[in-house]
Parts: sequence; C-alpha cells; structure tokens
Amino acid sequence: MFAGILFLILGAISSSCAAQSQAPAPDLTCSISPLGVGLDDTDQVLAAIGKCGHGGHTVLQDGVYNITRKMTWDLVDAKVDLHGYLSFVPDIEFWLDANNTYRVVFIQSQASWFIITGSDFEVDAHNTGGIQGNGQPWWDFFTNHTREDGDGRPISLTIFRAVRGSIRNFAIEAQPFWCNCIAESQSVVYDGMRCNASNENPAFAGQNIVPNTDGIDTYRSDNVSLLNWDITCGDDCLAIKGNSTNVVAQNITCRGGNGIAFGSLGQYANLTDIVENVFMENLTMTRIDASVQPNMQNGVYFKSWDGSINGAPPTGGGAGPGFTKNVTTRNVFLDRVNRPMTVEQTNGGQSGDLPSMYKFEELHFENWTGTALTNELVALECSAAAPCMNITFSGFNVSVPAGDAPEIVCQNAENVTGLNGRLILRCN
Ligand SMILES: *[C@@H]1O[C@H](CO)[C@@H](O)[C@H](O)[C@H]1NC(C)=O
Ligand SMILES: *[C@@H]1O[C@H](CO)[C@@H](O)[C@H](O)[C@H]1NC(C)=O
Ligand SMILES: *[C@@H]1O[C@H](CO)[C@@H](O)[C@H](O)[C@H]1NC(C)=O
Ligand SMILES: *[C@@H]1O[C@H](CO)[C@@H](O)[C@H](O)[C@H]1NC(C)=O
Ligand SMILES: *[C@@H]1O[C@H](CO)[C@@H](O)[C@H](O)[C@H]1NC(C)=O
Ligand SMILES: *[C@@H]1O[C@H](CO)[C@@H](O)[C@H](O)[C@H]1NC(C)=O
Ligand SMILES: *[C@@H]1O[C@H](CO)[C@@H](O)[C@H](O)[C@H]1NC(C)=O
Ligand SMILES: *[C@@H]1O[C@H](CO)[C@@H](O)[C@H](O)[C@H]1NC(C)=O
Ligand SMILES: *[C@@H]1O[C@H](CO)[C@@H](O)[C@H](O)[C@H]1NC(C)=O
Ligand SMILES: *[C@@H]1O[C@H](CO)[C@@H](O)[C@H](O)[C@H]1NC(C)=O
Ligand SMILES: *[C@@H]1O[C@H](CO)[C@@H](O)[C@H](O)[C@H]1NC(C)=O
Ligand SMILES: *[C@@H]1O[C@H](CO)[C@@H](O)[C@H](O)[C@H]1NC(C)=O
Repeated sequence: MFAGILFLILGAISSSCAAQSQAPAPDLTCSISPLGVGLDDTDQVLAAIGKCGHGGHTVLQDGVYNITRKMTWDLVDAKVDLHGYLSFVPDIEFWLDANNTYRVVFIQSQASWFIITGSDFEVDAHNTGGIQGNGQPWWDFFTNHTREDGDGRPISLTIFRAVRGSIRNFAIEAQPFWCNCIAESQSVVYDGMRCNASNENPAFAGQNIVPNTDGIDTYRSDNVSLLNWDITCGDDCLAIKGNSTNVVAQNITCRGGNGIAFGSLGQYANLTDIVENVFMENLTMTRIDASVQPNMQNGVYFKSWDGSINGAPPTGGGAGPGFTKNVTTRNVFLDRVNRPMTVEQTNGGQSGDLPSMYKFEELHFENWTGTALTNELVALECSAAAPCMNITFSGFNVSVPAGDAPEIVCQNAENVTGLNGRLILRCN
C-alpha cells in the first residue's frame, strides 16, 4: 500500500517532468467511452488528451465519438489507444467557415479539422478505429458547388510539427478531402493505414465525385515512413510535395484514382521545392469497379508547374524552382492503369508559357509488371529549360493492349537507360 502511494507520487513527479523523460509514465492513464447518440464527445476527448497527453496513456474505448469542432492533440512522450472512431459531424457549412478549421498546412492554404503534434508519441487504432470522415454528404454537396484548392474542405488527419511519432493500424473512412497530410515534421512512421473514399450515392454511379481525396500529401517533412497502406480514392494515392526528404513507402495498395504523384512541384515562384531520397517498394495500383470509381490514371507520375506565373496560390502559381533527385520505385504491379509512368512538366501550363525550371534527376524504376490500358508505356515530357537526367529502367515489363506497340514519349531527357532491355534511350 505504502509502496503504491510512493509509486503514485513518483509517477506524478515524472509526469510533470515529461519533457525530459523518454517513456510514458505507466500510471497516468485516462480512459473514456462514447457518451452516446445525440451527445457531443469533443470535450471529453480533449479533456482526456489534456490530462494524459504529456507523459501518459489515453484509451478511447470502442465506439463512435461525436466530434463537433476542430481539435488538436498535443502528445509528448505519450501513447493513445484509439479503439473506436472519431466521427466528424458532416455539417458542411460549419466546417467551410474558415474560423472553424486550422490553416497550418502552408501549401495551397489547406484546412485541417484535426491536428496531431508533439514528440515521441504513438497513436494505435488497432484496426478497429480511426476517423469517420462522413464524406458522402460532402461529395454530394460538391457535385454542384465549385471545388478549389484552399476552399476550406478539411484534411481528415494532419500531422503538424511532430517529431518521432507513429500512427498505427488506423482507418479513415470516407475522407471528404485529403485523407492525410504531414507537414513540417520529422521522423514519423505510419504503419497500417487505410483510407476509403467510395461514393455510395447511386445518383453518381460511374462518376468520380471524390476528387482531392488524396491518401496523403507530404510537405516540408523529413524521414517519413509509409508502411502497409490501403487507399481507395479519386485522386493521388500518395502525393510527395515540396521539401519531402528521406521518404520510404512499402507495401502500398492504391485502388482507383490518379496513382502515386511527385507533385505538383514548383507552384510557388518564391520557394524552392526539394524532393530527395525517396524509396518506394511493393506498390500495387489497381482499377476497381467503375461504378464506384472510374479512374485509374497513373502508376507513378512526376509533375511540375511550368515556368510562367499564372495567377497566385492557392489556385494558381507556377515558375517555382527546385529539384527531385534520387527516387527509386521497385516491385510495382499495375492493374489496368491508363499511363504507367510519366513526367509532366506542363501542369497548369498554357501555350506560350515559359518552360519549367524544375529539374527531375536520378529516377530509377525497377521490376514493374502488370497491365496498361493504353500503349503509352512511358512518357518523359521534360522541360527544355531543365532536362530530366539519369533515368534508369530495369525489368520494366508492363504490358500494353494486345496488338499495340508500346510507345515511349521522350522530350528533353538525357541519359535515359534500360527500358525493358529492348531499347536504350537517349533523347536530347
Ligand atoms: C453530435 O453532437 C451534437 C451536439 O453538439 C448533436 O446535435 C448531434 O446529434 C450529435 N451527433 C450524433 C451522431 O450523435
Ligand atoms: C472569424 O474570426 C474573425 C477574427 O477572429 C472575426 O472577425 C469574424 O467575425 C469571424 N467570422 C465568423 C463568421 O464568425
Ligand atoms: C445539388 O445537388 C444535390 C444532390 O447532391 C441536390 O439535392 C440539390 O438540389 C442540388 N442543388 C442545385 C442547386 O442543383
Ligand atoms: C470501401 O468502402 C466501400 C463502401 O463502403 C466498400 O464497399 C469497399 O469494400 C471498401 N474498400 C475497402 C478496400 O475496404
Ligand atoms: C500489406 O499491407 C496490408 C494492409 O494494407 C496488410 O494487410 C498486409 O499484411 C501487408 N503485407 C505485408 C507483406 O506486410
Ligand atoms: C511566398 O509567396 C507566398 C504567396 O505566393 C507567400 O504567402 C509567402 O509568404 C512567400 N514566402 C516567402 C518565404 O517569401
Ligand atoms: C525547402 O528548403 C529550402 C532550404 O533547404 C528552402 O530554401 C525552401 O524555401 C524550402 N521550400 C519550401 C517549400 O518550404
Ligand atoms: C538515395 O536514396 C536512398 C534512400 O532511398 C539512400 O539510401 C541513398 O543513400 C541515396 N543516394 C544518395 C547518393 O544520396
Ligand atoms: C517486397 O516484396 C519483395 C518481393 O515480393 C519481398 O521480398 C520483400 O520482403 C517485400 N518488402 C517488404 C518491406 O515487405
Ligand atoms: C517483382 O515484383 C513483384 C510484385 O510486383 C514480386 O512479386 C516479385 O517478387 C518481384 N521480383 C523480384 C525479383 O523481386
Ligand atoms: C548522372 O549519373 C552519373 C553517374 O552516376 C553521375 O556522375 C552524374 O553526376 C549524374 N548526373 C546528374 C545530373 O545527376
Ligand atoms: C549516364 O548514366 C550512366 C549510368 O548511370 C552513367 O554511367 C553515366 O556517367 C551517365 N552519364 C552522364 C552524362 O551523366
């Protein structure tokens, strides 16, 4: 008994010194359950994180938590077990009011309704919980309202200014907009992530009413691991944006959408976009039921804005400098994509625009198999002002439709080697 009290006192002291300690104090635990239908769980969730988010352990028991306003979890030396779902009320007008979301993601001034920040934390949703984005009314709403970057549609889960964090076994159902974004963070691991934006409104069967439901956008972050992801969306499955360095992605399944993007890059003329040391392996891009999602556009693609400024961010821009260097994609399986691999340096471009100054170099493609629905196997549409350099293919064996000869488009690329062993390319 005495020993127990002493332990509690020491525990309280160690939790007050959480900034210096490495492991969470095992005794500081907050456990909550959903209050029930019609009630608002936001206060009790924030109170639990407020009490146990530094040096403690927060447990959200199974069930559905009704979240009605923006929320930040500041976690330091902390663990969160999220057994249930944080369900964000589908009150579209409320969330589109700029006062009701955060604007911490600098690129395109995107909005967030839920931010996790801090250091040395783990959030585990045990494959039973995560976020319910209630996206269907959002997707319906935007079938007859204009969508624009920065219009306030909220990112479902934003990791912002986090260091040494992990998110595990986490599902995000029906994201209204980007499923995830990581910004201004270092050393974050996502292991076991599911996102699913699938229209279920029969009125829109066969249409992609879920654009911008990207699996993740990475921005201004270093040392990010994306492991064991399963993404159903109508846009980029992964989007590697400016200043993403030392990124690893392994075992990624992308169902529908645009495939894996590096970009768009070079939107801000005053900011250099650096993407360096990216390794991706065991990637599957698969077409799904066309009545749910008609698009499966790319395998992997690289895109920059061109060299002229057309309008201003968040919706316009261009002429940004920078480079993408040292990217390897290995063991890629494509199931009926339109375009397996492209570099497009004319994003947003108009005739008469200046060529992009953005440079793509050291891109490596190893062991690609599967099928394309067009014969355009590879398109390197690089910029005359910054030719692509050192692009290698080995074991690039994607099939095009029977009877079609595979086509390789190559503009302004230097030292491209090894396409399928069938040809060595040099296009200058
Ligand atoms: C969520 O909480 C609000 C009260 O703020 C309530 O009006 C609404 O019915 C609740 N939603 C659910 C699904 O319980
Ligand atoms: C949003 O916040 C700003 C600044 O705090 C305030 O001036 C404005 O009235 C608010 N708008 C709404 C719709 O509440
Ligand atoms: C917009 O679409 C919704 C269905 O998604 C419909 O109920 C509504 O009437 C439409 N509004 C207009 C102005 O077309
Ligand atoms: C995504 O959600 C749809 C609709 O709820 C469901 O039919 C489909 O099986 C889900 N996909 C995955 C991969 O879980
Ligand atoms: C790949 O990730 C999926 C989840 O998306 C998981 O179910 C599967 O076990 C993983 N495969 C391997 C080999 O780790
Ligand atoms: C770059 O330009 C954007 C607007 O396009 C502006 O918001 C931002 O503050 C500028 N950043 C720097 C570092 O000048
Ligand atoms: C990327 O980092 C460089 C410095 O390494 C900086 O000059 C540049 O502004 C950053 N770009 C963005 C988009 O933050
Ligand atoms: C290229 O990136 C890989 C990680 O994907 C890294 O191991 C390697 O050192 C990098 N190469 C160079 C030359 O920096
Ligand atoms: C990727 O797939 C290869 C071939 O199937 C396998 O040997 C390797 O272990 C996988 N890598 C990961 C990280 O699962
Ligand atoms: C090539 O990738 C496929 C998956 O796309 C994998 O099954 C196979 O083992 C890989 N081959 C080698 C030699 O790693
Ligand atoms: C291209 O590759 C060669 C050999 O690896 C290297 O010497 C050269 O610096 C590279 N050029 C660029 C622009 O990356
Ligand atoms: C072209 O790439 C090959 C193989 O990576 C390398 O040996 C060679 O130095 C490169 N040439 C140039 C001009 O970068």
